[in-house]
Amino acid sequence: MHVYEAVNSRRAVRAFSDEPVPKEVLERVLATATQAPSSGNLQPWHVYVVTGEPLAELKRRATARALAGDPGDEREYPMYPAELTSPYLERFSTAAAQRYKALGIERDDPERPTKIAALNSEAFGAPVVLFCYLDRTMGPGQWGDAGMYLQTVMLLLRAEGLHSCPQVMWTMYRQTVSRMVGADDGLVLFCGVAVGFEKEGVPRLRTGRADMTETVSFIGV
Ligand SMILES: Cc1cc2nc3c(=O)[nH]c(=O)nc-3n(C[C@H](O)[C@H](O)[C@H](O)COP(=O)(O)O)c2cc1C
Repeated sequence: MHVYEAVNSRRAVRAFSDEPVPKEVLERVLATATQAPSSGNLQPWHVYVVTGEPLAELKRRATARALAGDPGDEREYPMYPAELTSPYLERFSTAAAQRYKALGIERDDPERPTKIAALNSEAFGAPVVLFCYLDRTMGPGQWGDAGMYLQTVMLLLRAEGLHSCPQVMWTMYRQTVSRMVGADDGLVLFCGVAVGFEKEGVPRLRTGRADMTETVSFIGV
């Protein structure tokens, strides 16, 4: 698959089939993703690949918390700035409305937060979730490295015919996740990434983007 096609076909998929993902495919993707760049070549990511019965159990525990209206564990980093200003607020609101409407959850549904949390805690049906941690001593530069690493993983998954959805929502249940994977207190959960084959027959969401000219300035070109 051409790299342009991998970038253009990557979307946050929120409906996966239960078709298993072969371990050798995951190993190929994750071995190749070690080539992702990082400042000073620190490679600061720690990844746990969870599937099978351990993932089923994790989904059960997290979903029980979601359905009980559990507000989640104290966050270790803010998902967003306390106050989103323009144009970020508009981008956020537009995407949020599209995202969950596509999953049949209306904006005025009083059960909306619980439904969203429960869909996320089921990893949208994905048979594999990667949990990406960073050492607690790492700073903003290394968080950027982890983003580059995960995008590399997600593009390689496309080359294997697989899809993904990054999920910061797992940080709501970070204690449940860390207990399950055996991550100690020295690690901070950045996010989960749901991985699998896309479920057929579910409407596809193509989230819009700001025009390149809104975010890129050419100087001297
Ligand atoms: C770090 C990160 C965390 C995310 N967390 C969630 C999440 O918890 N739940 C979710 O449904 N989507 C999540 N997303 C997906 C974004 O909503 C999505 O990437 C964005 O709306 C753009 O849409 P697209 O990826 O389909 O192009 C996350 C994306 C990133 C990069």
